[in-house]
This record gives sequence, structure tokens and C-alpha cells, in this order.
Amino acid sequence: MLNIEMCGISFKNPVFLAAGVMGETGAALKRMAKNGAGAVCTKSLGLEKRSGHRNPTVVEVEGGFLNAMGLPNPGVKEYIRELEGIRDYLKRIDVKIIGSIYGKDPREFSEVAEILEPYVDLLELNISCPHAGGGYGAQIGQDPDLSHKVVSGVKDSVKIPVMVKLTPNVSDIKEIAVAVTEGGADAITAINTLGPGMVIDIRTGRPILGNKFGGMSGKAIKPIALRCVYEIYSVVDVPIVGVGGITTGHDVVEFMMAGATAVQVGTGVYYRGYDIFYKICKELEEYLTENNLKIKDILGKAHEF
Ligand SMILES: Cc1cc2nc3c(=O)[nH]c(=O)nc-3n(C[C@H](O)[C@H](O)[C@H](O)COP(=O)(O)O)c2cc1C
Repeated sequence: MLNIEMCGISFKNPVFLAAGVMGETGAALKRMAKNGAGAVCTKSLGLEKRSGHRNPTVVEVEGGFLNAMGLPNPGVKEYIRELEGIRDYLKRIDVKIIGSIYGKDPREFSEVAEILEPYVDLLELNISCPHAGGGYGAQIGQDPDLSHKVVSGVKDSVKIPVMVKLTPNVSDIKEIAVAVTEGGADAITAINTLGPGMVIDIRTGRPILGNKFGGMSGKAIKPIALRCVYEIYSVVDVPIVGVGGITTGHDVVEFMMAGATAVQVGTGVYYRGYDIFYKICKELEEYLTENNLKIKDILGKAHEF
């Protein structure tokens, strides 16, 4: 009942693990897969090893979390070993792998994409991290021309489907959605973290995060993520993967009504535990059964009004 098809690939359910949350190792991805995710996404990977920002990198705030990890990762070639160890198992239980990548320019993105392509089912281009700095992340995703170049470069380099993850931190997300789709994006993921924001320790006056500023995730950003999905759906024809504050099956229904074909869950894992994927799928299935609906009946429903 929950199986979907997207970019020519079938998924046993539309509830995926988001990039950067529990995706540091193969073992962590396997755990999320075992707990019912339809697909799991790696931590964002770059060409070279990156140690990320100094601690603390995550702080809980009202309504969610602020994080400024700074894209820590062992580099794509090293990380491949993690995937080699779990690939067969994930295939057996029919869980797809999304490889999240970043780069500083179109060439670097294409290079990482080519290295990772044999080990994953889809790629997700992270052009949207709000705290990466140095020309990475949202500095690309806030520029329609550069976003277009990155996407078309990767599309020329690989054969597997390419999803592009957008930042909400732009004045018009529709403009970026159109640019990446014209660049050849097979799907759009929306959204990466919001902000950045900050928290200050009033005993010392010191900003709490090592990087001072971090991107907001969790329940508080759900209305913004939902609006972004709704707006993107109104201007492009490619599938949209909604992400931002999703913790329940009813949240998924809302995202599907806004136009999402599938969703990703990040911070929700902290709120409801590793088995959040099972819980959400059960709630989604109950909603559909009780209302005698199929997923296709609710996709984009909010646009009828
Ligand atoms: C600790 C943490 C690390 C993250 N790392 C990445 C990352 O490496 N790449 C990426 O594209 N998004 C990353 N994100 C963003 C999430 O994938 C997601 O887009 C965002 O958190 C909103 O979803 P949520 O409210 O379900 O967490 C990270 C989020 C958190 C909380």
C-alpha cells in the first residue's frame, strides 16, 4: 500500500532517512534500514576528509535543534567502505541508498558523483548547507546560475538519478527549483536547515555553538518546509522529497498534499527513536485505510484550493 515509484526506482515505502542524521557509518545506516526506512541517505560526502566545526556542534532549542556540524566526513573514497559492508543486506531487505554529496564547484561535484555512483541508487546534491562556508553549501544553492551549472555537470557525469537538495534561505525558492530542473534534476529535496540561528549562554555571554551560528531543524520548521514543497510543486514537474520537522504519519499526509512524492526524516529520530520509520509508516497506512484513500489520491491535493 505504501510502495511508490520515483525516478524510475521503486521504494517499499516513501519514508526515508535524511542526510547527516545517523548516516556517519554503515552500521548506523543499517540500523535505520532495519527500522523500516524506505531509503537511507548518507552523510554529505566530499572529495577530501573534513573535520567540521569545533564543538559543540548541536544544541537543542525550543521547537527543534540548531546544528553547525560543518560537513564532517572521511572523504568519499574512505566512506565507500562503509557502503560496501551493508550493500548486500540493504538489497535483501529492499532499502535504497541515497548518496549525499557536496563540492565547491561543478567540477568537484561531478568528481565526487562519479566516485560514489557505483555504490548508491540515487545521488542527492547538497547545495544547501547554511553553515559550510568557503563557497560550499548554500552559497551555491542561493545562486540560480551556479546551481544550474552544478546540476548539469553532475548529470553529464553519471547515469543514476540525481536529486537536488534546496535551501529555504532564499527570497524565491521557485526560481532555484526551476533552475535546477532546467539543469536536469530528476527530483528535488526540500528543505535543508533553516537560518542560521544562534543561542547564547547568559552566564558567560558566549555563543553556545562552536561555529556561533547553526541551521534550525525539527518541528518548528515544518510549516516553512511545507510551504517550500507547495511552491516548488507549483512550478516544476519532477518529484519532490519533503523534509523538515516530520515526526508523524499525519505530517507525511500534509507534505504529500503539498506535493511531496516521498519524505525524509532527520531530527524526528531524536524525538521518537530509531523505529520512527515503522511508526510513521503505520500511521500513514492507518490514515489512508480509514479514509479509503491511496497515496496518489492525496498527492498535490492542497493545490485544488
Ligand atoms: C545534526 C544534523 C546534521 C545534518 N547534516 C546534513 C548533511 O550532512 N547534509 C545535508 O544535506 N543535510 C544535513 N542535515 C539537514 C537534514 O538532512 C534535514 O534537511 C533538516 O534537518 C530538516 O529536517 P528535520 O527537521 O527532519 O531534521 C543535517 C541535520 C542535522 C540535524
